[in-house]
Amino acid sequence: MKALVLSGGLGTRLRPFSFSMPKQLIPVANKPVLEHVLGNIRSLGVTEVGIIVGDRGQEISEAIGDGSRSGVRVTYIEQDTPKGLAHTVILAREFLGDDDFVMYLGDNMLPAGVAAIAEEFTTHRPAAQVVVHKVEDPRAFGVAELGPDGEVQRLVEKPQQPRSDLALIGVYFFTPAIHEAVASIEASARGELEITDAIQWLVTHGADVRASEYDGYWKDTGRVEDVLECNRYLLDQLESRVDGTVDATSVLTGAVVVEPGARVVNSRIEGPAIIGPGTVVENSHIGPYTSIGRDCRLHRTHLDDSITLDGASVADVRGLHGSLIGRSASIGPSSRTAVHRLVVGDYTRVEVAA
Ligand code: TTP
Repeated sequence: MKALVLSGGLGTRLRPFSFSMPKQLIPVANKPVLEHVLGNIRSLGVTEVGIIVGDRGQEISEAIGDGSRSGVRVTYIEQDTPKGLAHTVILAREFLGDDDFVMYLGDNMLPAGVAAIAEEFTTHRPAAQVVVHKVEDPRAFGVAELGPDGEVQRLVEKPQQPRSDLALIGVYFFTPAIHEAVASIEASARGELEITDAIQWLVTHGADVRASEYDGYWKDTGRVEDVLECNRYLLDQLESRVDGTVDATSVLTGAVVVEPGARVVNSRIEGPAIIGPGTVVENSHIGPYTSIGRDCRLHRTHLDDSITLDGASVADVRGLHGSLIGRSASIGPSSRTAVHRLVVGDYTRVEVAA
């Protein structure tokens, strides 16, 4: 089996970050989402991975390289504009050949893994096997209506009156039967070739399409709130490790990772929290539920439930909560007293204490 990982797309819901980086590289627990995805694929025993990339492909290939760090062999496949999930299958035709494959959205996190579902697929080899997850409000999702034996009878995109609470989440298993389906469908009203339409085409043409429920933690990291929530979830499994330096006046409580080259000075780190390599934390209170990237500077700061990306600096700001701070962003005191000064990019969101 091969894997097709989708890492193109626009990422409009993750602005302003997606203006300057592909959203699949946003770190969760200090590791890009895409690396979590590749690890998950590797754990299925799949090593041949095609990654669909859009106009940010270069940054993705710089971060992931040939995939060897994740134990896989990566082939990059370019998509000039995001024309839909089914379009990526057409683009990947040569890479996929006549192999079965798992299609995996590069921004979806399923930390419990899908090994049992993969095994079910390889044992029974239905034309397609979709992964579904119970959601509270199915109206926002593609929904699978199942028959008594778990066979998919119908797929409905964002139903007003859902007949099932089983949403399609970002992992699909396919045999080569999907190639005829993606070639046969038309673009949807939003101008995309929808994978749900291709799977529905298989159902309509009498193919065996199955659904398996994933009941572990799942998150589509499409919005800032999702990224932070997923970070909290992963940090809950953190195990303490101190490879950097922590001075005698600092206190670490709970699960805390201090990476090599990081320095914690006169500070309190409340786990779960990760302090990235080369970062300096001084006279600060960090955490809980906080991931600090590489080479950050945090001085006289109180920050919890947050992520700072590489090279960010924060000084003299207390009460920062639920924040996602971008690469090399700088937050600190104004050079004049009693004024706030903001230099914020397009679609940036700043919320101040009322
Ligand atoms: P989405 O999150 O549905 O789309 P998007 O990335 O454009 O985000 P937004 O809605 O915020 O604008 O895409 C799911 C995944 O599939 C994501 O990793 C991007 C990828 N993708 C492609 O690679 N090609 C495509 O044509 C589309 C639509 C998505």
